[in-house]
Amino acid sequence: MTEIKLGIAGLGTVAQGVLELIRRNNALMRQRSGVSLRVVRVASRRAKPEIDLQGAHFSTDIEDLLTDPNVDMILELIGGDTTALDLIRRGLAANKPVVTANKAILAAHGNELMAGRGRQLLRFEAAVAGAIPIIQGLSGGLAANRLGGLFGIINGTCNYIFGEMEANGTAFDEVLAEAQRLGYAEADPSFDIDGIDAAHKLTILLALGFTGSFDLSAVFVEGIRHVTVADIRFAQELGFKIKHLGIIQNTDAGVEARVHCALVPGDALLANVNGVMNAVQINSDGAGETLFSGPGAGGEATASAVLSDVLALGALMASGNGIGVPSESDQSSERLSDQPALVSMSDVSCANYLRIPTVDQPGVFAQVTQALSEFSISIDAAIQHEASSNQSAVDIVLLTDDVVEGTMNAALERLQRLDIVAADIVRLRVAPTL
Ligand SMILES: NC(=O)c1ccc[n+]([C@@H]2O[C@H](COP(=O)([O-])OP(=O)(O)OC[C@H]3O[C@@H](n4cnc5c(N)ncnc54)[C@H](OP(=O)(O)O)[C@@H]3O)[C@@H](O)[C@H]2O)c1
Repeated sequence: MTEIKLGIAGLGTVAQGVLELIRRNNALMRQRSGVSLRVVRVASRRAKPEIDLQGAHFSTDIEDLLTDPNVDMILELIGGDTTALDLIRRGLAANKPVVTANKAILAAHGNELMAGRGRQLLRFEAAVAGAIPIIQGLSGGLAANRLGGLFGIINGTCNYIFGEMEANGTAFDEVLAEAQRLGYAEADPSFDIDGIDAAHKLTILLALGFTGSFDLSAVFVEGIRHVTVADIRFAQELGFKIKHLGIIQNTDAGVEARVHCALVPGDALLANVNGVMNAVQINSDGAGETLFSGPGAGGEATASAVLSDVLALGALMASGNGIGVPSESDQSSERLSDQPALVSMSDVSCANYLRIPTVDQPGVFAQVTQALSEFSISIDAAIQHEASSNQSAVDIVLLTDDVVEGTMNAALERLQRLDIVAADIVRLRVAPTL
C-alpha cells in the first residue's frame, strides 16, 4: 500500500472539504485506489483553530509546502493568481504532482502549465463544474469521439438567480442580495454575474475538447445583469426558459465559443437544471448526446473532484510508471495537430429574443418591423400586450429567425434610435439545438 503525503495550500471552503472527506472516507479510498492519503502539511494565511488538521504541520508560509521533503503532492486551494500561480509553477518545476481547483489560472496560463511536465503532473477536475467529472469525461470517457457541441450551465450563481426570479417574480437586485446572504454569490459578484467565471471554465472545456489550447480571448462573454423578471415571463410565454450558458459549437466555419444568456426550450434537459446545480450536455459522433450534472460548488462537492485527481495521480505514483521523473518527452507541448479555426462572434448566427419598450401609440409595431426588414430580419413570433392604464410604455417582444450577429447588432442600433423606442432594448440569443 503506497501512502501519498499531501501538502495543502489554503484552509478555506474547498480545503476544509478535502480534510473532511479524507477524515471520513480514507479507508474507502484506500480500498478503491490502492493508495492511502495522509495530510502532512497545511499552509494558509491564517490558522483556523477549530479545524482538525489530522496531525499535519501548519504554517502561514506557502513556501513550506515546496521545501518540506515529506510532501509528495501539492493541493493548490488558495485561489487568486499571484501566489497560487507561483506555487503551481514551482511545484511542477520541482517535479511534484499538483492538483488545483483554480479555473482563472488555467484559463490564463493553461498553455504554459500544461506544457512539458505539467501535462503529466497537473490535474484540475475541480476547476470546472465542481463535483461533476467533466474533465475526466472529456479527456477520458469521451476521448475517442469528435465533439459536435457542448452546452453548459457552469455558473451556479447565475442559475440560482434566474431560478428565484422565475419562481417568485423577485427582481434581480433583490435575488442577488439574497444569494450573497446565503453564500451563493461573492461580496463582489461581478466574476459570476458578468460571465467571467463561466468564461474561464468554458476556456478549459474548449481546450480539452475542441482546440487543444487555452485561449480566454476566444470566448465571447456576456453576463446576466440586463435580464428582468419581465423577460423571464415573456420567454415562458414563448415556450422557453432563460439560462446563462457556455456554448461551444463545431461548425463548418470553425469553432464557436460563447458565454451568454440564452433562451432554451422549456422541455430541454438543461431547462430543468435548477438552483445552484451545474450541467454540461455534450454531443459527439460516437457517444451521441451525453449529460453530466451535479453540484457545481460547495466544500465537499468540490473536494470530491479534487480528491479524484489526487487518487488518480496517487495511483500513477504507486504504479511506479515514472511520474515525477523528468523525461525528454515531458518537455514537448502537444496540441491538436489539426487545430480548428475559431469563429468570431460577429459571424455567429442565431435567433434572437428582443424586448422593445415602446411608447403607447398606434403604428409602433409597423415601425419596428419596418426597421428590421431593412436588415432582412424576419420575425418568427411576436407578443404585444395592451398597455395597462398606468403604463406609459408598452413592450413589443419579438423572436427573430436566425440572424448573423453583426447584422443583428446593426439592426439593434437602428431600432434603439427610433423615436418610438422608450427605453433600452433587451436582446437575448436563442440557444441553438444541440
Ligand atoms: N468554493 C467552491 O465551491 C469552489 C468550487 C470550485 C472551485 N473553487 C476554487 O477553489 C479554490 C479555493 O476556493 P475556496 O472557496 O476554498 O476559497 P476560500 O474559502 O476563500 O479559501 C481560500 C483559502 O486560501 C487562503 N489564502 C488565500 N490567499 C492566500 C495567500 N496568498 N497565501 C496564503 N493563503 C491564502 C485563505 O486564507 P484566509 O481565509 O486566511 O484569507 C483561505 O484559507 C479557488 O481557486 C476557487 O475558484 C471553489
